[in-house]
Amino acid sequence: MTPSVAEPVYFNGQFLPLAETHVSPLDRGFLYGDGVYEMIPVYSRQAFRVDEHLKRLAGTLAGIKLPNPLDLAGWKAVIEKLVAAAPWEDQSIYLQVTRGADNKRDHAFPPTTVTPTRFAFSSPLVAPSAEIRARGVAVISVPDQRWARCDLKVISLLANILARQQAVEENCAEALLIRDGYLKEGAASNIFVVKDGILLAPPKTQLMLPGITYDVVLELAERHGQPVKIGEIHETELRRADEVWMTSSTKEILAITTLDGQPVGNGKPGPVGEKMWQWYQDFKNSVMRKG
Ligand code: PDD
Repeated sequence: MTPSVAEPVYFNGQFLPLAETHVSPLDRGFLYGDGVYEMIPVYSRQAFRVDEHLKRLAGTLAGIKLPNPLDLAGWKAVIEKLVAAAPWEDQSIYLQVTRGADNKRDHAFPPTTVTPTRFAFSSPLVAPSAEIRARGVAVISVPDQRWARCDLKVISLLANILARQQAVEENCAEALLIRDGYLKEGAASNIFVVKDGILLAPPKTQLMLPGITYDVVLELAERHGQPVKIGEIHETELRRADEVWMTSSTKEILAITTLDGQPVGNGKPGPVGEKMWQWYQDFKNSVMRKG
């Protein structure tokens, strides 16, 4: 079987085989989910929007009051080394930082002498197949039971996990999270809606992760003259949509064609989503060609 984690991995300043990494059970990531992560797509061995991903990582670290253990150049050097060592052209780079392991369990932060645990590795990046894209995917909607800082990309993901698992148990690809009647995002994706040719996007608030793909989609819409409206999307608007898509670094732009067992629009991927997917591919290729 093809391994899904390339070696060496990056662990606390070293590049090691996975089997040589060791995390204490007192690590606050393990005890409390006290840590942050990033997922950066790599195409043709080039990290896509790496500065934006590392900026979001820095923002999340600041948001949980954990000093960034590496500067921009430091993270880029780690990423470059992982990318070069991995066997795949397209990869996903996972970065994680936790608040480290103290010698006791205490909710409050440990002394500053405790060093954060840093871990990063590469996996193969597999975009949705042409067949899945042609069909679109089915999703469910569920109440958003997450905390009030969903803009931070933290590793404590239990509410997202439970929502996604419910989707899987109902043979669906994703769960859309509804809070107080409004669509926020998916369990691991941002969600866009199209109505009467206008692209609707939920606003960036503390109740949504600011997706890097979300930003690219809005930039491409602007560049190609696609009308956009950014604003809260009520559940009723979601259910009346002509098109609904999910976006993320791994799914790119993927049509949602069934919501809670009902067809979205005519039940097929729509023309605006198709165009956006093509613009996204063209943009990716132009970035990769630039080197
Ligand atoms: N998830 N919203 C949530 C809750 C997410 O977890 C993600 C990404 C996104 C999309 O963000 P981006 O476009 O930057 O990938 C939105 C990643 C892929 C993950 O958890 O693995």
